[in-house]
Amino acid sequence: MKKITLLFIFISVFGFSQQTMKPTGLVTSKAMVVSARAEASKIGVEIMKKGGNAFDAMVATELALAVAYPYAGNIGGGGFMVYRKANGEVGGLDYREKAPIAATKDMFLDKDKNVIKGKSTETALAIGVPGTIAGVFAVHKKLGSLPMSEILKPVIALAERGVIVTQKQQKQLEAYHDAIVKANGPNTLMAGQFKENDTIKYPALSKTLKRILKNGKNEFYKGETAKILVDYLQKKGGIITLKDLAGYEAKWRKPLQFNYKELKIISMSPPSSGGICLAQIMKMIAPYNLSKMGHNSEQSIQVIVEAERRAYADRSQFLGDPDFVKIPINGLLSDSYLKERMSNFSFDKASLSSEIKEGKVNYNESTETTHYSIVDQFGNAVAATTTINDGFGSKYYCDELGFFLNNEMDDFSAKPGSPNMFGLVGNEANSIAPQKRMLSSMTPTIVERNGKLFMVVGSPGGSTIITSVLQAILNVYEYNLSMQEAVNAPRFHHQWLPDLVTFEPNTFDNHTIDTLKAKGYLINEKTTPVIGKLDCILVLPNNNLEGGADFRGDDKADGF
Ligand code: GLY
Repeated sequence: MKKITLLFIFISVFGFSQQTMKPTGLVTSKAMVVSARAEASKIGVEIMKKGGNAFDAMVATELALAVAYPYAGNIGGGGFMVYRKANGEVGGLDYREKAPIAATKDMFLDKDKNVIKGKSTETALAIGVPGTIAGVFAVHKKLGSLPMSEILKPVIALAERGVIVTQKQQKQLEAYHDAIVKANGPNTLMAGQFKENDTIKYPALSKTLKRILKNGKNEFYKGETAKILVDYLQKKGGIITLKDLAGYEAKWRKPLQFNYKELKIISMSPPSSGGICLAQIMKMIAPYNLSKMGHNSEQSIQVIVEAERRAYADRSQFLGDPDFVKIPINGLLSDSYLKERMSNFSFDKASLSSEIKEGKVNYNESTETTHYSIVDQFGNAVAATTTINDGFGSKYYCDELGFFLNNEMDDFSAKPGSPNMFGLVGNEANSIAPQKRMLSSMTPTIVERNGKLFMVVGSPGGSTIITSVLQAILNVYEYNLSMQEAVNAPRFHHQWLPDLVTFEPNTFDNHTIDTLKAKGYLINEKTTPVIGKLDCILVLPNNNLEGGADFRGDDKADGF
């Protein structure tokens, strides 16, 4: 009797918050993919229905996004993947782009050492050596189970059949039309005046994928595709050579792991700043009772903003490619250091970053890059974020090969203290060097609760990726929202410099904003964009899966 009472109390206390979450997103019992396009989610799910695992589905979804979502899906860019196998084993893959061998520290500066506007974003020099094909082949070799031919078949069929233009895609193509024409001339496929419900076919990309299927990874890095690509880039003034491509390798890296209350967070380690920044922020906010303060309440916003301010300041100073710079990870994540960092925070007054010159920020877009989350029927989980940096990357589109090239070189710090397109400032740790990887904010993340898979989370959004991922986890764990509600909820962001809190447009009440202003917080009053575009999966207490697909895009959860 006593035992039964104790069991009841245990279930009531520890199972309470999970039981009150009512799912509002798609619920499935076995497997799920959530990605930026319905076509990609469907292809990933089909692969798992055929008996493939989450890693086969990762390869299929990644490449299907390259077809269906050229805005950010790619084979001309790179990314990061974090996984957790059903047996609890975790790992991370870095398929981030690298600076070409001919890159130099000052390549984006004029003779007076000032940054030349647009050179790191709009010229062929902005393009880093792509990593995506190396990434998917590395995943398949180590963890895949189906033959590559079976995985690529539906992707190639999609490229041949074509993809229907959505309303949002029509707007993206219109917004970037002139820049695409400027880079490629008026006859490029992607300069077509496509309207909603038109179908765009990708025959050149289909041919490239068929060659890759026939000849493997070497096709992209050493074969005909490599030769066509280098020829194209050199005509455009780029510096990537066949030697750069032949030397590219994706790297397995140990993911960054830390605890937040009863959760274990598994996220990407450098050269992404995502895991370290997320860890710093979560460790700084852990002593505060956020759930009691309330979701998006003035006090919760203060605690989170102040932790974000401090973490992004450290990002700027200390983080870069670990193959080139020594990162003091233990120091940055030590409890005593982070306690000390928050010791001057007070609920009465904002701690301003104003002694340091404010950066300039371009907040026009925040949905570049793309993330997808996968859980398979065996219990394996994959979080992968991939990018060509800006929307349609550098806008250079190789028509012969059928894909856009990244402008990831802008993620380096072109000059210490000078902001990149996300307003992020960096220092020596993230300076340009040949074959170095540029610092990223991508934060593919897997969360365990009590030793079991709990969430798969990630987002696009440049510097806002980290803070979007943070809010998805807190919204579920602290504020007890369903996965879909957590994704839908309005978001805010702070990144140290510029010293501004940004809120999604028309989502926070005036009283909260006025109170924060009165305490000295500087609010971004300009027209602000959406913040992040989360695609997540939550494991429910009965082991069903709930998808959170972001309504801010055309994102879709699919599964069985
Ligand atoms: N290009 C965005 C990022 O890697 O953070």
